[in-house]
Amino acid sequence: MKVGYSYLIDQFSVNTKNVKVKYIDLPKQAHAEDMLNDIRELLLKTGQYTLGPQVKEFETRFAQVCQTRHAVGLNSGTDALFLSMKVLNIGPGDEVITAPNSFLATTASIANVGARPVFVDVDDEYNIDPNLIEAAITPRTKSIIPVHLTGNPADMRRIMDIAKRHKLHVIEDAAQAVSATIDGKAAGSFGITGCFSMHPLKNLNVWGDGGMATTNSKELYDKLMLLRNHGEKNRDECVIWGYNSRLDTLQAIVALRLMNDLDDITNTRIKHARIYDEGLARLSDYITVPPRKPNVRQVYHTYVVQAKDRNNLYKYLNENGVEAKIHYPVPLHLQEAAQYLGYKEGDFPVCEAQARSILTLPVHQHLTEGQLGYVIETMRKFYKA
Ligand SMILES: Cc1ncc(COP(=O)(O)O)c(C=O)c1O
Repeated sequence: MKVGYSYLIDQFSVNTKNVKVKYIDLPKQAHAEDMLNDIRELLLKTGQYTLGPQVKEFETRFAQVCQTRHAVGLNSGTDALFLSMKVLNIGPGDEVITAPNSFLATTASIANVGARPVFVDVDDEYNIDPNLIEAAITPRTKSIIPVHLTGNPADMRRIMDIAKRHKLHVIEDAAQAVSATIDGKAAGSFGITGCFSMHPLKNLNVWGDGGMATTNSKELYDKLMLLRNHGEKNRDECVIWGYNSRLDTLQAIVALRLMNDLDDITNTRIKHARIYDEGLARLSDYITVPPRKPNVRQVYHTYVVQAKDRNNLYKYLNENGVEAKIHYPVPLHLQEAAQYLGYKEGDFPVCEAQARSILTLPVHQHLTEGQLGYVIETMRKFYKA
């Protein structure tokens, strides 16, 4: 049986033929030989496959990028969210406010600690609308989880202000926003914790799954360190029942090498976004390019436009070799998994309207200017402009 918006995704099952512009191109990543040498050393010399010294080194460097005192390497961004709520004792009976247009993991982790996800509609930057947050706060609200969608940070100044007045924690879902800043202050440094993903699609990726939680609180850092490793104080003593959520040494080795390129990766994505902005300006009757604010460094995990006749444009691009995608076609409150929350179509009109018009263009760091030009040209052809 089809529930909610799932009928929508049928029309997106287009096969991209003769791919000319890939959505992501991981085999082009640099440092493969160096990484393999480091891994050879791990395999043949140290054998410290879990929590090796590279994990600590990566945590230290990651905390520097995020301008926080601490960072804890975890096995995924999902666990960074889940464990952040665990260390804040968020659970059954509590409510957590978040946006309905994120990746599934934001809401799933709220539900999986036993709390109730409460959605608040988004603004025209695809981020939670600070004007609507206060109306959703109840005596049961414990936390707000803004998502820095596309790598564009949510309005943290206003969100932190609301949280302070209502004595709520803010957990940043910064999975898409490594090295993004507002007025020079890094995503992941505003909230009580910042949650990052190093999934292969992310700007800073590992060779599988990986995540990081950042915090300035020594108390939360200590708890996160315990929870990620079975609650063990030492080999034989357990102070709290924990989880197995360690970042593998192998993944830290990969991330450390790629971290040297993080600025290049980010700046290249920013440059590509600008090329699209300029190239698509002629299509302004049909295409709305992403918002830009002079004080914000957005890192373009995704380059999302709003497009007239989106579904046909999506098909046309894919049929012409451009791996365009949609993030995300089915809002979270309309997912089958969310039915028990009682939301219905029409509850979050901005998010729902965006779900019908958004389109993600490839923006990764390995694209050539020729490929970007091809995407722009293909869009112009579609609109006959
Ligand atoms: C916004 C957002 N939140 C959470 C996650 C979960 O991260 P992970 O896949 O590392 O568990 C992701 C990415 O996948 C994401 O994009």
